[in-house]
Amino acid sequence: MATLLVALLTILSLVVVGIEAGQKVIISLLDSAIAKGADGTPPAYAYRPGFGDGVDNWHVYLETNNLELQCKGGGWCWNLEQCLGRAKIPLGSSAKLISTNNGSVPFQGMLDDNSTFNPDFHNWHVFKIFYCDGSSFMSDVEDVDPKHNLTYRGARIYDAMMDELLRIGMGNAKNAVRQISLTLYQDRSQSWINCIRNLMSCNLTEIEIMKDFRFTFINTLKSTIANSSSRRGYFVHNCYRHGHIEEIRGSTCSLIVGNGLANKNIAEAVGDWYFDRSEFQEMDMLNNLPRNCTGDDLPILEKKCSDYYIHHQMP
Ligand SMILES: *[C@@H]1O[C@H](CO)[C@@H](O)[C@H](O)[C@H]1NC(C)=O
Ligand SMILES: *[C@@H]1O[C@H](CO)[C@@H](O)[C@H](O)[C@H]1NC(C)=O
Ligand SMILES: *[C@@H]1O[C@H](CO)[C@@H](O)[C@H](O)[C@H]1NC(C)=O
Ligand SMILES: *[C@@H]1O[C@H](CO)[C@@H](O)[C@H](O)[C@H]1NC(C)=O
Ligand SMILES: *[C@@H]1O[C@H](CO)[C@@H](O)[C@H](O)[C@H]1NC(C)=O
Ligand SMILES: *[C@@H]1O[C@H](CO)[C@@H](O)[C@H](O)[C@H]1NC(C)=O
Repeated sequence: MATLLVALLTILSLVVVGIEAGQKVIISLLDSAIAKGADGTPPAYAYRPGFGDGVDNWHVYLETNNLELQCKGGGWCWNLEQCLGRAKIPLGSSAKLISTNNGSVPFQGMLDDNSTFNPDFHNWHVFKIFYCDGSSFMSDVEDVDPKHNLTYRGARIYDAMMDELLRIGMGNAKNAVRQISLTLYQDRSQSWINCIRNLMSCNLTEIEIMKDFRFTFINTLKSTIANSSSRRGYFVHNCYRHGHIEEIRGSTCSLIVGNGLANKNIAEAVGDWYFDRSEFQEMDMLNNLPRNCTGDDLPILEKKCSDYYIHHQMP
């Protein structure tokens, strides 16, 4: 199980087509002598100050893995060729990140400042740390690769960002939430890559691996929670989905189709847990395989999303 996988993402939610919004927030660079992206450019973040009764609360969003999108997230690089490749794109270069995005990025989902859409978190400070690293902020090599002019210093990006957060005021925070997304892969074989991109193409071995992973994951989670004295919340479902927190579709429309995680989406569940409105501890125990909730389930999901909006727009 060491390098497992995928199905994890799985533990996350869903998608609805046709809703786009979110304020644009300027990408800032952090000039620092020690922390540099893979190509030597400074690390980048986007920050929106909190307001109203959100001023003491911080949402720190740390990008890590996102296989599909070129402009954000980004997985790991596994060899020199891949690390060199990503140093030339937004995943390893803040210069490219800024030019590709024209200097700003939308804050959506749980980062959105729209109080109707995002009632619990809209006025929090949001500090989004871009990745610009191929190691989930874990590498720290002093020497620059002389032949390729590559740096491996993701951990320094992280440290420099924490200093910046304190500098701009998080030291005064009453509450802070940090969510980190992570994708684990079984391996990098073509067969596995095909499987995680299109569940229909997974073979029986891969399906068994996912089932096995789910079983281990759930049992470990239950055991961890049972052993813990503090109050934990969880939201575990089988939809195959990245980006719950920062995308409208992920966070607000992630109602689980057909099995109901208490009929709540992830933003509501986190809000209930965080603000002590009610405990939220739900897992999908009906489905033991990852499901592509962007496919056939879409009409049902859209209906649930529109019901959600109607509910939230009532006075
Ligand atoms: C190496 O990268 C740094 C930062 O981008 C740049 O200033 C320098 O000119 C590069 N050196 C070479 C030899 O390409
Ligand atoms: C950036 O601006 C160019 C030119 O206006 C446009 O074609 C492109 O779609 C923009 N990219 C983004 C991510 O907004
Ligand atoms: C805020 O969100 C609601 C619900 O999605 C939407 O109807 C409204 O147009 C949004 N307001 C703005 C200013 O985008
Ligand atoms: C099935 O998947 C496994 C794991 O990815 C892979 O090693 C194997 O080659 C695949 N079998 C076939 C017949 O494609
Ligand atoms: C899910 O379904 C959509 C729409 O049919 C498809 O484009 C996508 O590749 C599928 N994703 C997976 C992981 O199967
Ligand atoms: C929970 O506690 C039991 C009994 O002490 C132990 O066997 C088990 O490994 C613990 N589980 C975890 C995930 O720490």
